[in-house]
Amino acid sequence: MLIIEGRFYPRPLRGQTDTLRGMTNQANAATGSVNPDEPLDLAGRHILLGLSGGIACYKAAELCRALIKAGATVQIVMTEAAEQFITPVTMQALSGRTVYTSQWDSRESNNMAHINLSREADAILIAPMSADFMAKLLHGRADDLLSLMCLARPIDKVPLLVAPAMNREMYAHPATQRNFVQLEADGATVLGVGTGFQACGETGDGRMLEPDQILEDVISFFAPKVLAGQHVLITAGPTYEAIDPVRGITNLSSGKMGFALARAAHEAGAHVTLVAGPVALATPRGVNRVDVKSAQNMFDAVMAHVQAATVLVAAAAVADWRVAKPSGQKIKKDASGQAPQLVFEENTDILATVASLPQAQAGKLYCVGFAAESHNLVENAEAKRLRKKVPLLVGNIGPDTFGQDHNALLLVDEKGSRQLPHASKLALARQLVREIAARLAAFPS
Ligand code: CTP
Repeated sequence: MLIIEGRFYPRPLRGQTDTLRGMTNQANAATGSVNPDEPLDLAGRHILLGLSGGIACYKAAELCRALIKAGATVQIVMTEAAEQFITPVTMQALSGRTVYTSQWDSRESNNMAHINLSREADAILIAPMSADFMAKLLHGRADDLLSLMCLARPIDKVPLLVAPAMNREMYAHPATQRNFVQLEADGATVLGVGTGFQACGETGDGRMLEPDQILEDVISFFAPKVLAGQHVLITAGPTYEAIDPVRGITNLSSGKMGFALARAAHEAGAHVTLVAGPVALATPRGVNRVDVKSAQNMFDAVMAHVQAATVLVAAAAVADWRVAKPSGQKIKKDASGQAPQLVFEENTDILATVASLPQAQAGKLYCVGFAAESHNLVENAEAKRLRKKVPLLVGNIGPDTFGQDHNALLLVDEKGSRQLPHASKLALARQLVREIAARLAAFPS
């Protein structure tokens, strides 16, 4: 039996990779996601995870688990060098499948592991990919099972993704850099590297990406590229309006919906700029993030990036008002018992301003607003869409969703309104991205 998140599944035999296909989001109970029918991100995918020699092999164990938790089935293939760093026993236990290490593996009835394994994979992922293994791939060498399998794979059906891992000097070497360019030209997807402390004691570029980053990249890789060629500008999170140097006015927005949208738009192939108010969320992979504090900062950042944008999604909960003259020093209590008198002035409406720009009026920028309401969602959202002059407005009940991992959305456009029922914010973000893509196709541009 195979154990995933405390549940039992029959272990699929090689060649029966459909056993877990269509598996739904069993992790939901653990993550607090609300829809048990939501498919796992990699449900139905069979990944051939290849390990070449490098200390980053220790991360491959975690990566294997992460791929399986995301719904994939995983077949491990290791080079002889990889076996110096981690044992096949560990990888077999984690993947629930026999590990392959040799092209002479007699368990295969036709003695052709390289053909059999590469034909059943949806993708080959090499993590870690050492500098030496990359050089081997480039020359089409095939003197061990993993390189043989990469060469023998049907190149148009089985994509090759690689996560390099090496010392910073090896990474920066012209030969390595030249090899990356050639590897991409040969059709491989190079996932990039991390920066930081290396096992050798040096610091720089060349670490293997973290397992959760690789997982995000693999999920992205399989996503339909419905926003390819689009530049999506997204605002997210709350704003913070200072009263004095230690106090301010903000709101309960967590930024999760906007960040999920940034991830979904990137997955869909868009170039994404995320203008984020003060939130402690990790930047989605591949997204260009600009951190801001006040509504004025957010306005400035949006105006600085809007020229290149073809889509604006205003998901931020922007403060309507700011303190007209924030105190330069902490406002102290005096003995009078009187509360300080704050005078407010209105912040510029970022969405309405952008929607009235010539590029939006000319149909070159598609604007999507959000409405966080507490009541009368349909009426308020419809009125807000007309007031802000945007083609699409997304309504939600703010108090029900602020800080949560789930939401329910109401889409309002010129044809009327439609609900996207309760789901995780990421699932809703992906649906919303598809809705935007469908409308863009009909948008004058
Ligand atoms: N918005 C904006 N700039 C502002 C205020 C709001 O860009 N200064 C955007 C939000 O990001 C959202 C939409 O306008 O996309 C609606 O925001 P919301 O706070 O729901 O509405 P308001 O315009 O503030 O109206 P009200 O507070 O009366 O509901």
